[in-house]
Amino acid sequence: MQEEISQLGVYVKDLLFSYSHNEPILQGLSLTIKPGERVALLGPTGTGKSTFMETLVGLKEPLSGEIWIQGIPLEKKTLPQIRRQVGFCFQNPDDQLFMPTILEDITFGPLNYGLSLENATDIANNLLEKFGLEKYANRSVYELSGGQKRLAALASVLALEPDILILDEPTNGLDPLWRRNLAKILLQLPVKVMLIASHDLNWVSKVTQRALILKSGQIKVDSPTQDIIQDSLTLESYGLPIDY
Ligand SMILES: Nc1ncnc2c1ncn2[C@@H]1O[C@H](COP(=O)(O)OP(=O)(O)OP(=O)(O)O)[C@@H](O)[C@H]1O
Ligand SMILES: [Mg+2]
Repeated sequence: MQEEISQLGVYVKDLLFSYSHNEPILQGLSLTIKPGERVALLGPTGTGKSTFMETLVGLKEPLSGEIWIQGIPLEKKTLPQIRRQVGFCFQNPDDQLFMPTILEDITFGPLNYGLSLENATDIANNLLEKFGLEKYANRSVYELSGGQKRLAALASVLALEPDILILDEPTNGLDPLWRRNLAKILLQLPVKVMLIASHDLNWVSKVTQRALILKSGQIKVDSPTQDIIQDSLTLESYGLPIDY
């Protein structure tokens, strides 16, 4: 089994998580994502998508269950190793950006992992250009629009060139042009596994092949994204109307 798990991108078994003494949000959630898969995580507001993603990167500790990332079990002592492989973009960009300037936010990760200032700045400048943020490199997060914050947060995550990319509502605040640009950027990344929580069903169907619906703390539907977005009855039954 150990060897099989080590072949996998993301392996989650029987995850149980609850906030203090409330009813559990994740109730025995299990799932496997193989290298090469781009997966959408769907579910109405408040079903636990963000909570689940935060447990995957060790920001929230489950009561029980297993998480393996590229063959490594997530534990306190493996957390630095796992964080090196996983890029996680928060639902709220204000949680991501904390340095005095956007440029420093983007160079922070690469510098932390030992790159020279010159190399880290090169990476950041490329990303600033890719995300149309060159002019804002020296601004603080408080001086950016909602969409610009989103793009800067994405750039800061991509700066680490993660194997596994976890994005929580990445199109929030983006205009249609940037939603399209972001889809193109994501499709070109050499990332092994992508997991994207989104309410933007049409957009997410362009960037993922497989979609999961989370309900009552478990994955209830696991199908090709195209099949799910065309199945309005199933979507409605999970509280996911496509027209809105
Ligand atoms: N810190 C917290 N303490 C207590 N309950 C919380 C906390 N954070 C979230 N919750 C609750 O946990 C549930 C799941 O929240 P979560 O943010 O994971 O949902 P979500 O599926 O990401 O929703 P959305 O689509 O709105 O982003 C919600 O009912 C929420 O109210
Ligand atoms: Mg959320």
